[in-house]
Amino acid sequence: MNETRRAVLEALADGPATGPELAEKLGVSRAAVWKQIEALREGGFEIRGGADGYELGEITAYGGDAIEFGLEAPFSIEYHESIASTNDRARELAAAGEVDRVVVADEQVGGRGRLDRAWRSPPGGVWLSVLSRPSIPPADAPLYTLAAAVATARAAREAGVDAGIKWPNDVIVPLEGSDGAYRKLAGILTEMEGETGRVAWLVVGIGVNANVDAGTLPAGSTSVRAEAGDVDRRLFVQRLLETFAELRADLEAVAPAWRELAVTVGQRVRVDVGGERVVGDAVGITDSGALVVETADGRERIAAGDCEHLRPARG
Ligand code: BTN
Repeated sequence: MNETRRAVLEALADGPATGPELAEKLGVSRAAVWKQIEALREGGFEIRGGADGYELGEITAYGGDAIEFGLEAPFSIEYHESIASTNDRARELAAAGEVDRVVVADEQVGGRGRLDRAWRSPPGGVWLSVLSRPSIPPADAPLYTLAAAVATARAAREAGVDAGIKWPNDVIVPLEGSDGAYRKLAGILTEMEGETGRVAWLVVGIGVNANVDAGTLPAGSTSVRAEAGDVDRRLFVQRLLETFAELRADLEAVAPAWRELAVTVGQRVRVDVGGERVVGDAVGITDSGALVVETADGRERIAAGDCEHLRPARG
């Protein structure tokens, strides 16, 4: 966000102020203050002009400046009302050498899911992609995906949804009274480019069915609206990004945080691993995020795959 704009917002967050007062406080011209007030109004901020000067209303806007304001994480936000895919845009930013940018959209018209599936992304959802340039080996990249799953599940729980994580990175809501059945709330698509032994850039794309009607989504999906009512998406995204930033700065904390929210351990599972099927009881998750499955032939550690819950494991 433009520095003067941020300073105007911070000043107004402390209480009403007139144009001349703001100009003096910030050391800029009154015209510059006016320009930023107009830009903020265009960005959806409600700023009333009254006897005491400008007064900031409740922040209900969902846009780049609104998300950045009050965000306690080192990201700048690029917002689009409608875009093909936030992951595609984040990849362009990666190619242009950018870092710590988050692309957010109200709607995607070419949203992509895992395994080349389309991802339905109507207006009202949380569709975003975080671009990082971490100094990590490619083997640690899955921890970024797990961190995103934890950040998403925690934000959803804060919004009142009984969210958990299905290995490796689906955020789901268990169906009440059922044996491991669930509805999908959010998905994560991580894409990266590596150089010898290290990651050059990493894009974590997160799609959350937030304020959307579950009936418009693919079968087996649910939304924050369906589970707990509409959420303030600005606050939801802020919480999500703050948790993600905290975890990416402390990768050792990821697996323990993830285990607390995982619903897969204790389930009988079938995992498709590159065309091969592994069936057994999910008994744990390693520190690098691999699923440990007790099969008829012994324990297997599965680093990546498509997992189905069959029923709770016996005993
Ligand atoms: C999945 O298949 O579960 C992953 C879905 C990931 C969807 C998100 S929405 C934001 C970002 N942009 C995309 O095109 N895809 C990801």
